[in-house]
Amino acid sequence: MKIVIGADHAGYRLKDEIVPFLESLGHTVKDVGCSCDQSVDYPDYALPVCDQVVSGEAERGILICGTGIGMSIAANKVNGIRCALVHDLFSAKATREHNDTNVLAMGERVIGPGVAQEIIRVWLDTPFSGGERHLGRINKVMKLEAGV
Ligand code: RB5
Repeated sequence: MKIVIGADHAGYRLKDEIVPFLESLGHTVKDVGCSCDQSVDYPDYALPVCDQVVSGEAERGILICGTGIGMSIAANKVNGIRCALVHDLFSAKATREHNDTNVLAMGERVIGPGVAQEIIRVWLDTPFSGGERHLGRINKVMKLEAGV
């Protein structure tokens, strides 16, 4: 799978551990930064990740900041993005099955690399359930973008 990943200064250490993990699973990873402690603004990294998912350049996106909250808020402003902030395995599976999320947000200040890797593994491996109920709800959410 082609995966694009980005982080701010509070999330880049976790990102830098996740990149080789994803590659070890056989995925192709595009890292949009950042790569150091210098303070940056999370929307500046959420946008290029989301743009690449919407354009189809990448199939999924992963965003990391201190809490994951700022990244998830920013990502969900982008048309076509369904981003879930996930810090547990149950939610990682449920958000793929029920919400068909295409971007995953996590917080480096909230979880460690071991939990993050398991969340990613489950999130990438779980297919959308495809059920009518869930599809109908997703379509209603996507209509909110169009202001319908
Ligand atoms: C940066 O200090 C922090 O506010 C940011 O990484 C994120 O947690 C925002 O939601």
